[in-house]
Amino acid sequence: MCGIIAITTRKKTNVSKMITSGLKRLEYRGYDSVGIATINEGQIQIMKDAGTIDQVTRKYPFETLQGSTGIGHTRWATHGPPTKINAHPHADCSNSLMVVHNGIIDNYLSLRKELKKQGHIFTSETDTEVLAHLIEEEFKSEEGPDAVIRAFKKALAKIEGTYAITLIHTADPTKIFLARKDSPLVIGVQDDTKFAASDIPAFLEYTKNAIVLKNGEVATLTPEAVYIEKNGFRVQPKPFIVSWTAESAQKSGYPHFMLKEIHEQPIALQNTLSVNINAIEEATKQIFEADKIILLAAGTSYHAALTGYYQFQRLLSKKPIYPIIASEYDTYQQLVDENTCILAVSQSGETLDVMKGLTSARKAGAKIISIANVIDSSIPRLSKVSLYTKAGPEIGVAATKTHTTQVALLARLALQLEYSLEGWLEKEFSSIISNFSAEVPSIARAVITQNELKSKQLAAHISNQNHSYFLARGRNLPIAMEGALKLKEISYIHAEAFPAGESKHGPIAIVEPNFPVFVISPKDETGKKMLSNSEEMKARGGYIVSITHKDQEVVKRSDQSFLIPESSSHLVTPISYVIPLQMISYYAAVHRGFDPDKPKNLAKTVTVE
Ligand code: F6R
Repeated sequence: MCGIIAITTRKKTNVSKMITSGLKRLEYRGYDSVGIATINEGQIQIMKDAGTIDQVTRKYPFETLQGSTGIGHTRWATHGPPTKINAHPHADCSNSLMVVHNGIIDNYLSLRKELKKQGHIFTSETDTEVLAHLIEEEFKSEEGPDAVIRAFKKALAKIEGTYAITLIHTADPTKIFLARKDSPLVIGVQDDTKFAASDIPAFLEYTKNAIVLKNGEVATLTPEAVYIEKNGFRVQPKPFIVSWTAESAQKSGYPHFMLKEIHEQPIALQNTLSVNINAIEEATKQIFEADKIILLAAGTSYHAALTGYYQFQRLLSKKPIYPIIASEYDTYQQLVDENTCILAVSQSGETLDVMKGLTSARKAGAKIISIANVIDSSIPRLSKVSLYTKAGPEIGVAATKTHTTQVALLARLALQLEYSLEGWLEKEFSSIISNFSAEVPSIARAVITQNELKSKQLAAHISNQNHSYFLARGRNLPIAMEGALKLKEISYIHAEAFPAGESKHGPIAIVEPNFPVFVISPKDETGKKMLSNSEEMKARGGYIVSITHKDQEVVKRSDQSFLIPESSSHLVTPISYVIPLQMISYYAAVHRGFDPDKPKNLAKTVTVE
């Protein structure tokens, strides 16, 4: 939540233009206010306001700011509403320094009180502003060439909470100072230009050389060099080359990132299924050795984790397996010990609820396997085994390709478990794997092609509705849950998913003519009962939309049907069946006049509890 970017360059250029384009790539992290500050000839210049980047830059042309060192921020409000004064960057009393921050300063109220007593004047309601005044206060007793970094470190020692911070100071005008604790910060390295940002796409058009700043590290960037330290000791940076392309972080002709990302699923699935076999084998070993498994995730990633639960439970019937929503971890923590294997699923690899659970589980001695999309993010770094979805950057706030690739990777893991349990011959196994790896992308492609127009038409039809239901049974339930989450989060049509059998225990009461009911009914053992539940809804006037297979009886009894090609394995179902639901949600949002890439009140990477 919140996107930050900082650039310092030796080139005779103004960084404001690069910062603005970087902010556009970070907008998925927050979009209620935006700001930029540069240092030009020893003076701070700043522009900021509430609104999206496009709205604010129409009023304040960021790109006219001069200077070769600067910082920018796009906000998802936590402390104080989205207003001009609360927008970042935040200054000290004398406008000598500017900070931008992603995270939460837990002890900001006591610090603010103390600083006010010392005479500091606050202009915003944010927790971040205390940082600016705290650094200003510490700077008073410092002198010499390293005065700013010393003051910065002393200020950091006084704050509690989570942060990624970038700081510029007129006393050291070509440097950028950074610190990180539990909120992401990545450094980009180009010959005579250095970048820092919440996420790689912000600087991907300039460089693919990156360094992840780790928890507890503090860094100084000059145009030529990167200095990192931790607890007073110099840390040798570990640069890596980013495999994502600059184009992958652009819309490439699509009206929205979400639609582009839906269409990228076949290739993302194909890439993801070309797995690192050592990591898969190690994960399998950890799962077998543990005496219980916990799947931990939030939101859409939780729905992927839930599909994993159904797959693993079928194979490991004697081993307790618990799918847990990360923010509820505390309720289950007594289950966790050194014989527990936690499988964490997170696109960003930074979700705070998941991080908190994992940190506690690690203390209890649990072994952690993670599935993430962002390489070297915090969750993989807490893990014994890191598996990666190779979906490329996902910019649309609603997860699509990262969800289906998570499901695919969990299915791949299930196949590996099955191989070990069933004693398949190696030849037999490799043929199963290569069929699966070929079938998944090809079915995904067919589903998109065959259902897109229909999704658009249906979206238009249901767009005037305020409520909807998503029904499924057994292992298909996560598909319904994901469909409902997608629809509500971007089109704002209220959507509820529940096991179809529960209808009669309450939900059916509000069904009336034209009430959309999505029925997830693959060709499997749930089909018959799904048909009865669908009929019950239809009898009350429900508008039945089935996601099903052409031979299913429910097709005849539905108002609309989305037909999914048959696959050789039930492991493909949670991928192929969710795609039409993504498309319907996308088109419903567009039809209702909303931007599906930036749903209100949401941000992509959730680094608050
Ligand atoms: C919904 C969505 C969120 C995320 C959730 C977890 O479309 O994207 O529900 O799935 O915030 O995020 P990650 O996967 O980054 O841990």
